[in-house]
Amino acid sequence: MGDKRHLVWELLLPLIFSDIHTSILTIKIAQRIESMCGIVGCKGDARASEILLNALKSLEYRGYDSVGMAVLNKCQIFIKKDIGKISDVDKKLNFKGLEGNAGIAHSRWCTHGGVSKENSHPHTDSNGDIAVVHNGIIENFEKLKKELIEKGYVFRSETDTEVLPYLIEEAMKDGNDLKSSVIKIFQKIKGRNAIVVLNKKGDLIGARNGSPLIVGLSDSACFIASDIPAFLRHTNKVMYLDDGEMVVMGKKPIFYNMSTWKEVWKRLIEIDWNAKQAEKGEHPHFMIKEIMEQKETIKEAINQNDKEILKIAGDINNAFGTFFTACGTAGKVCLTGEYLFSQISKKHVNYIVSSEFPNYQHFLTSKTLLITVSQSGETADVMEAVETAKKKNVKIVSIVNVKGSSLDRVSDHTFLINAGPEKAVASTKATTAQMAVIMLLAYACDGRLEEGKRLLIETAAKVNDMLNPRYEDHIKSLAEKLKKVPNIYIIGRGLNYAMALESAIKIQEVSRIHAEGFAGGELKHGPLALIDKGVPCIALVANDDVKNDIINNAIEIKSRGGYIIGVSPENNKVFDYWLKVPDVGVASPIASIIPVQLLAYHLGVLRGLDPDYCVNLAKAVCVK
Ligand code: G6P
Repeated sequence: MGDKRHLVWELLLPLIFSDIHTSILTIKIAQRIESMCGIVGCKGDARASEILLNALKSLEYRGYDSVGMAVLNKCQIFIKKDIGKISDVDKKLNFKGLEGNAGIAHSRWCTHGGVSKENSHPHTDSNGDIAVVHNGIIENFEKLKKELIEKGYVFRSETDTEVLPYLIEEAMKDGNDLKSSVIKIFQKIKGRNAIVVLNKKGDLIGARNGSPLIVGLSDSACFIASDIPAFLRHTNKVMYLDDGEMVVMGKKPIFYNMSTWKEVWKRLIEIDWNAKQAEKGEHPHFMIKEIMEQKETIKEAINQNDKEILKIAGDINNAFGTFFTACGTAGKVCLTGEYLFSQISKKHVNYIVSSEFPNYQHFLTSKTLLITVSQSGETADVMEAVETAKKKNVKIVSIVNVKGSSLDRVSDHTFLINAGPEKAVASTKATTAQMAVIMLLAYACDGRLEEGKRLLIETAAKVNDMLNPRYEDHIKSLAEKLKKVPNIYIIGRGLNYAMALESAIKIQEVSRIHAEGFAGGELKHGPLALIDKGVPCIALVANDDVKNDIINNAIEIKSRGGYIIGVSPENNKVFDYWLKVPDVGVASPIASIIPVQLLAYHLGVLRGLDPDYCVNLAKAVCVK
């Protein structure tokens, strides 16, 4: 019976999900307001403002429309904040002028309330005795704000955050200390949030429910931040807060469960990232550094424990339906995963974009396996997909870059991709590393793990050869030709279909040129109408069984005047410009996305943009 049901499932799922990929598509909405911020606090070092400023710079990828800092000096909190990028605001305000040994800081990405100095964090209570920085969205803030206004509080900003210091102030009026007040307000607010609070007595408290917060400890000081690179130059010893927990910072931070009010023991973990990895080094931008790091990171990603790969491959083979879920670029990796599993192990797995995952909960049983893919391990929609799946007792396996991230900690098993910190908003090295891990699993499902490893080692070596200065110059010349075009189209088929979609994401977010990716077969169903003389179209052409079809699609475009850029192991007369990639069989998505990453980078630079900070976008999307 079980086998038959399994068969029906395998037969039905392709029909059920056949239309998903076309409807999800790739365009990141330009005015994405639901994004996140970077928060940080430190205590115990007289250079607090300098530490916080450096931390902000490393958190800038989380938000960069305004910035602010509060530092405690002689029992008084001093605040500087304004709109703009950190370096510009610092030039204007000189953050280091704030003297003291405890403080908090924030780099903002607006959600509630526009970009203005008033809306920048930190926000304070009525007397300026308590300062708060916040990451997340307080879903019930309007109700709370109304109640506070009725009690006489005067709001100075349009943010949801401003309710927090007033709620704390209210709770303290009832005789609560700061710790109890924070617990009480966390019981009142709804949504995914993390806060760091400083009062004029020097108490520094962090609390989270849904948004990341990590404590760092050095010999002399303690740190708390949304992400580890914020304090990596001071320590690699970290302690993670879980949802529903708070921490009272000090030499020995004390953690509490906010439901039971009881103390919670935490393990001190040493992470193997170092500060240098989180810096640009000799590269002008993180994005190019991270693209070039793919010379090493593919190899590092393969460095997995064989037993664990085989164990999870066994789970995939035995599962009653395996789902993949992710957002953005990681989602395109999952879509590639569908094709990899189909080709390598003849196994049907299903990719659902995380924000749509709850709609598929009726297909989940306790025998389902959910594989999530996420660079940050903090993406809110992915976390919600996991929550949905957990309610059905689904086993969760994650492919993650950030050790100790929320996703890592809620998963039954995690494969770390070992790519090191990825700072540029546009994902590059994490993408190829994630694909490498998925390939290992697909090969392991077919009992050919060693063969998969050999192919990936060969791919890593060929990528290493490909990423040389001449290759980059060749792509730079193409970027010069394309820098003023209004549109770029990308076509792919089979294994490279998802990479056509991913190519469009890279070009959109980094260069702000309108770009769209299509399955080659879809051209005649619409997109061909967009092709005119000189319109650039990138064709991802691998040496595989769909090669002739995709070349034919390129010919169709060329005969309408299109300018064909071929990404392929071999040149072809239809190509107007050829970007050579190594011939690596089913690993071709790894090879074909890298030149497009480079092209997007150089287009961004030539168009005067900062490729590390994509307009309107942020790296870790920690709210829905
Ligand atoms: C944002 C980033 C993308 C990333 C996506 C998912 O949109 O800009 O680069 O692919 O989030 O993030 P995750 O951390 O879950 O991989």
